[in-house]
Amino acid sequence: MSEFKPLVFSGVQPTGNLHLGNYLGAIRKFVALQESHNCIYCVVDLHALTAQIVHQDLVGQTRSITAAFLAAGIDPKAHIVFNQSRVPQHAELAWIFNCVARIGWMNRMTQFKDKAGKDRENASLGLLAYPSLMAADILLYRATHVPVGDDQKQHLELTRDIAQKFNSDFSDRIAEIGLGVEMQVGKELINGYFPLTEPLIDGPAPRVMSLRDGTRKMSKSDVSDLSRINLTDDADTISKKIRRAKTDPQALPSDVEGLVGRAEADNLVGIYAALCDRTKAEVVTEFGGQQFSAFKPALTELAVDVLSPISEEMRRLLNDTTHIDAVLADGGERASAIADRTMTDVKHIIGLQC
Ligand code: TRP
Repeated sequence: MSEFKPLVFSGVQPTGNLHLGNYLGAIRKFVALQESHNCIYCVVDLHALTAQIVHQDLVGQTRSITAAFLAAGIDPKAHIVFNQSRVPQHAELAWIFNCVARIGWMNRMTQFKDKAGKDRENASLGLLAYPSLMAADILLYRATHVPVGDDQKQHLELTRDIAQKFNSDFSDRIAEIGLGVEMQVGKELINGYFPLTEPLIDGPAPRVMSLRDGTRKMSKSDVSDLSRINLTDDADTISKKIRRAKTDPQALPSDVEGLVGRAEADNLVGIYAALCDRTKAEVVTEFGGQQFSAFKPALTELAVDVLSPISEEMRRLLNDTTHIDAVLADGGERASAIADRTMTDVKHIIGLQC
């Protein structure tokens, strides 16, 4: 019995500046996974069109995400780094998935409901179909694992629903052509073409919150720049933002239970832990009983140590974009080779190809 080969895929939208939340929640995990898996990391520029069709500088934004990937330590030779629109099969497979998925599934997505707001009739069709393109991104490479923030969990479930419906709608055909991989789905043994992809969500800081309000996510769209640490911030700016981060008047607790109900303290401890690959429990064991006036300088030093080399390397890479452009072109070619095989299989399975 064959099995799906473990493969990691993830995507980042080229909209807005990357901040600490993106780095700790996504990019840092991408870097770590390179040790154990083959990885494909994609700048999803087609997804950037779903909320808004006209953009200032998509190419520049795409380069800047790519620069962050490389600066953080992603190796584009050992793995694959590219932007989505270079590989037209993403859109092609998404169309097939639009015909597999149901409108009801899309309507239930909380991200769609949030982004579409009150006037859903006026949202773009692309915004509604966003998860279908995301499923195509992943399944085009038959990826088995997807590192994402927990806000993307629902989209990953939908990706599995699409894979499962495709596998079962075409199970006879998949078996007949001999393209299937046998897998257990509930009680049934299915001859599936697409794997049921698993999200990878763990880590000490799955969710980095705003520095001004520990109950809201750190976000590039927050009006206050003090609410986030951008990957391009210099040491002085990082230091200022941490100094001004909201806290409560108590000292740090000595155990993690003591962080319950203290959103800001919990967030800063979580950031510290994630930046040095330790658990929150270890961090409060070290800092328990100390005031924020002592903890904040330690956090600043750690943040500057980790982030400065990345922002310097990003600046260097973006100064002359030849290297970045070459990485994307090469990654695009290698991704296309895989994507082409999948689309040929899919056309065969569906009956679009004789
Ligand atoms: N929707 C993801 C986000 O907003 C971005 C994304 C698009 C993605 N395609 C993907 C993430 C495929 C993982 C895998 O974060």
